[in-house]
Amino acid sequence: MSQETLSNLLHEQRRFPPSEEFAAQAVAKPSLYEEAAADREAFWGRQAHELLTWSKDFDQVLDWTDAPFAKWFVGGRLNACYNCVDRHVEAGLGDRVAYYWQGDPEGDKRTITYADLQRMVCQAANALESLGIHQDDTVAIYLPMIPETVVAMLACARIGAPHTLVFAGFSAEALASRIADADARVVITADGQFRRGTRAPLKPQVDEAVAKSPGVEKVVVVRRTGDEIAWDESRDVWWHDLVDQQSDQHEAHDFDSEQPLYILYTSGTTGKPKGIFHTTGGYLTQCAYTHRNVFDVHPERDVYWCAADVGWVTGHSYIVYGPLTNAATSILYEGVPHPGAQDRWWKLIDERKVSILYTAPTTIRTYMKWGTDMLQGHDLSSLRLLGSVGEPINPEAWIWYRDTIGGGWCPVVDTWWQTETGAIMVSPLPGVTATKPGSAMRALPGITVDVVDDTGQPVPNGSGGYLVVTSPWPAMLRGVWGDPERYRETYWSRFPGLYFAGDGAKKDEDGDLWLLGRVDDVMNVSGHRLSTTEIESALVSHPKVAEAAVVGANDPTTGQMVCAFVILRQEAIQEADEPGEGSELVAELRDHVAKEIGPIAKPREILVVSELPKTRSGKIMRRLLRDVAEDRAIGDVTTLADSTVMDQIRQRMATTH
Ligand code: WTA
Repeated sequence: MSQETLSNLLHEQRRFPPSEEFAAQAVAKPSLYEEAAADREAFWGRQAHELLTWSKDFDQVLDWTDAPFAKWFVGGRLNACYNCVDRHVEAGLGDRVAYYWQGDPEGDKRTITYADLQRMVCQAANALESLGIHQDDTVAIYLPMIPETVVAMLACARIGAPHTLVFAGFSAEALASRIADADARVVITADGQFRRGTRAPLKPQVDEAVAKSPGVEKVVVVRRTGDEIAWDESRDVWWHDLVDQQSDQHEAHDFDSEQPLYILYTSGTTGKPKGIFHTTGGYLTQCAYTHRNVFDVHPERDVYWCAADVGWVTGHSYIVYGPLTNAATSILYEGVPHPGAQDRWWKLIDERKVSILYTAPTTIRTYMKWGTDMLQGHDLSSLRLLGSVGEPINPEAWIWYRDTIGGGWCPVVDTWWQTETGAIMVSPLPGVTATKPGSAMRALPGITVDVVDDTGQPVPNGSGGYLVVTSPWPAMLRGVWGDPERYRETYWSRFPGLYFAGDGAKKDEDGDLWLLGRVDDVMNVSGHRLSTTEIESALVSHPKVAEAAVVGANDPTTGQMVCAFVILRQEAIQEADEPGEGSELVAELRDHVAKEIGPIAKPREILVVSELPKTRSGKIMRRLLRDVAEDRAIGDVTTLADSTVMDQIRQRMATTH
């Protein structure tokens, strides 16, 4: 990659070494790196022994003879649900809170201890068995962020039935294709859900999806909103009728370490969704290890909050399997940030004395945009660690997060990983790493990654290329459900022997990693490679800009041209009399990018907008912005959180041209 044009992020000179006080109490120790480097398999073997309870010990840490199909902790047997729940109760921790649940309606709260959770999962496991669900039968779960969702997942794990969660914001269409691909026999859902202070239906989507899914025998319905719903007597059953009458005793049988635990669908670039599947022993080991070390979790005193939705991998690994394996106390929050409830998070952090917060850069930037009034009257001093995941975090957002939310002293951990990797792969270790705002730093002890060029050769420090994982890791996907060829082809064919993550990255002069976004977001302008992330980061570093999305639009002369869409900060909107038409402001921003990166990176177009098109998981859909920039019909908007955003952007485009 062109050095001159990629240097913006490397201008970041701020360093945040751990405080002595934090380091003294930290879970992670510098010696982890040495231990893992000396004997990686022995290192993982120790983690698996220390973090999990095995009913039968494994004979071999890793079997890679059938690469790229891995087996971890070969011959070992365990039960995931027992590891998440029962053993903690047996160890005398039954009264410890597993979840403080906070519903979207403010009065909806529940406190669930480990002993409560054990009774609930036993009843739910008995209920599933009464429906004829056994080992290897798949169960689809289409539920919002309520305790029953976690209970349903754990009950499936307990009986060896892989679950597949479908985010409750997805359409009937998306649900149907996942049910079909996973061959689910039971769907667990709710009558409706609460989102952004209003009720939204769920059961109608299930009815529509199940009408197309002959394999589904039963639909189990949690009563959440109490709304009137259609009912099929032969197929539908209320959760409370089915589950509440079951015995709260259930024996957890053990399964092979490689027993499939779940399938989770991610949108591939085209076509059929990819069913990423994860198994038990390796996955739990890496979830527990990363949860403890990356978030510095002291289960006896921390209140930990991962603010993702449980329907995404972040929720699977860091709301459910990681925290529960570690006997941690978590927040389970049904709501999402929205303008009508700007201070709900801060209130909740104050009320529950949350000490660890894990969220996404898009959320952080949304809060930056709203300003600090929302924080008034809320004491955030319980926070002691902040995490970020999902996309590159620009240095300004990182600093804002640390200073404004973290009181200027909480360590920030930027964690890189994917649905496919199952657990965190690249991240600083709090108490050990001197962090750099915007850098995910290094592979965790036990994980090996590199940045390679087009030919698969490692690039030297100071250069960019493609992020790869160079050796198998415990929580790695075991394949694409039902499609081993697609697994091989997508991840292992680009660079033989290396896992191709699909992300661009750069090693700085110290060898630390800076993630640059998906490689399909890399632009080529007049032969210069430019990263969308880098230009976005430059724009957001301007005091008037809250959020920015950059795309490369086709251009006959330069190959691509840089097109930017920006949201202004509240103060700037008030100042600018005609937002969107302020050509002065646009000129100022273009100059700013030129100053930060170089004239080559200057956006040809900058459009001031009030919203950006985002998926329900908060990722900006640049593909749609590219459609606008290239002035063609806008593609599929069905996965947008708010499908009207594109109309607004189109209109804005029309009025400024
Ligand atoms: C991106 C979410 C930069 C990346 C856990 C990856 C990140 C994709 C980071 C996976 C990060 C995730 N810095 N980029 N810290 N974390 N990504 O499967 O492009 O929803 O390939 O998993 O998100 O998204 P997924």
